[in-house]
Amino acid sequence: MNVQWYPGHMTKAKRQMQEDLKLIDLIIELVDARVPLSSRNPDIDRLGQNKSRLILLNKADLADERQNEAWKEYFQGKGFHVVKVDSRNGAGMKNIQNVIQEACKEKIERDRKRGIKNRPVRAMVAGIPNVGKSTFINSFAGKACAKTGNRPGVTKGKQWIRLNKNVELLDTPGILWPKFEDQEVGIRLAFVGSIKDDILNMEELALTLIGYLKEKYPGVLNARYEVSEEEENLGVLEGIARARGCLKKGEELDYAKASGILFDDFRSGKLGRITLEWAPAE
Ligand code: G4P
Repeated sequence: MNVQWYPGHMTKAKRQMQEDLKLIDLIIELVDARVPLSSRNPDIDRLGQNKSRLILLNKADLADERQNEAWKEYFQGKGFHVVKVDSRNGAGMKNIQNVIQEACKEKIERDRKRGIKNRPVRAMVAGIPNVGKSTFINSFAGKACAKTGNRPGVTKGKQWIRLNKNVELLDTPGILWPKFEDQEVGIRLAFVGSIKDDILNMEELALTLIGYLKEKYPGVLNARYEVSEEEENLGVLEGIARARGCLKKGEELDYAKASGILFDDFRSGKLGRITLEWAPAE
């Protein structure tokens, strides 16, 4: 899903988040493992004060495993609970239940001291568009889970998915807004396909991606397209266009088409597992 953001849209999303946050104990925040910082919105840290926090490095299957580990440590160092997941095929899901209990330990203990027994932890999923929120909810909740309606104790109009006797999940995710003011962030979100392609200059972006891959993942472009990575970035794009037969009328090379192929290959993991934003070295 791509959302075209404008101030009204953002204010509405923010207001909705604030309302939903009143109902829950735990925020399950999804970030894209390939761009963990660019796909976060730090406003969530302010909005979610006093809530238990779990960060899911989603799309971990598409990201570099060494970097996944490095990012996991990074966020753990900041006090978050962290799980790497692939929501599309369900990898990492089993682990989450335990981590939820761990993340909400204090709340469960508080309840116990007040004599409240067996009140399930209430959680909501949040993240920027396209990070995988719906895929995660479907995969995590599965088909077997019963939805709870407007029964006593359940806020009217809200649907909760009862995952087990310990956890209930709000069935609509909180949509966070990307940090548009930072151009670098915009570029990285475009690389992973979270910003509509038609508002971007794809060829320019392709050249930037080629430059990054040559530096951080040498050999990857050569392996896929048999291009020389010694070339300038434009030369590499030209090589991709030739390798894939991207020609306009009159034998002119079609760089736009070659850029599209490069992005499709990158986004679907055909270039291998690649992380675009590396965890800061401690
Ligand atoms: P959203 O609700 O946060 O907006 O995201 P959504 O679940 O719609 O997921 C956006 C895209 O990301 C979907 O691909 C989805 O399949 C893919 N996706 C979600 N989680 C993962 C993951 O862990 N690994 C991988 N590899 N992909 C993931 P799409 O191309 O838009 O749709 P489709 O081709 O899957 O139908």
